[in-house]
Amino acid sequence: MILVGPPGAGKGTQAAKLVAKHRFTHISSGDMLRAAVAEGTALGKQADEFMKAGKLVPDGVVIGMIVERIAKPDCKEGFMLDGFPRTRPQAEALGAALEKAGVKLDAVVLIEVPDSLIVERITGRRSDPKTNKIYHVKFDPPPAGVDVVQRKDDTVEAVTTRLAKYHSETTPIVPFYEGAGILQRVDGVGDPDAVFARIEKVI
Ligand code: AP5
Ligand code: MG
Repeated sequence: MILVGPPGAGKGTQAAKLVAKHRFTHISSGDMLRAAVAEGTALGKQADEFMKAGKLVPDGVVIGMIVERIAKPDCKEGFMLDGFPRTRPQAEALGAALEKAGVKLDAVVLIEVPDSLIVERITGRRSDPKTNKIYHVKFDPPPAGVDVVQRKDDTVEAVTTRLAKYHSETTPIVPFYEGAGILQRVDGVGDPDAVFARIEKVI
């Protein structure tokens, strides 16, 4: 399955809940790119500037990374993509790779959150670098003693660009999957457990 939604929609938050329940492999293109940046690999060096500015990393770089990843043995029993595809060419490349591998896409879940809520969610996000658990300073504060960090692209400036890119580059994949009859829209506003129950209902 695929999780789609604007920055701060709750893709990572819901992915953790889905994985805890269903045990399928979670593949976040953003997490993979951040790991590459941290390790200083060639891929990370290419991606860093785009990510800091809130721009999309070029399709040619990201498509290869994901096609390689979904061929790994831990994807055999099912996997969930988070943050990929996010352009029409990425969706088409994924479709071709899945067809070649004989894998059927079961669901594309679009988590809908209005733009007006995004900046507060993004600028308040913190995460635990040891466990990758996602927190929010107001909505889900980290417990005392947990040292949290903030993402480099979680600034007002970068999130404005990320939102604009979401609307111009990513929303065209919605009619693509709607046409295939596998798109499920879920309201992403409200308590994260309520959002999780909505996702469970549609998948
Ligand atoms: P990526 O890491 O995918 O970032 P994103 O899509 O902008 O999404 P986020 O991770 O910011 O948000 P989320 O939906 O996971 O929300 P979360 O659960 O954390 O990509 C980063 C960058 O990498 C891109 O800008 C691009 O440069 C590059 N990239 C990645 N994939 C790419 C691709 N395919 N092609 C090209 N470039 C690519 O929640 C956010 C906050 O809200 C948290 O604090 C959380 O606690 C809180 N929250 C969650 N749910 C709720 C709720 N229901 N109510 C209140 N608060 C909530
Ligand atoms: Mg995320």
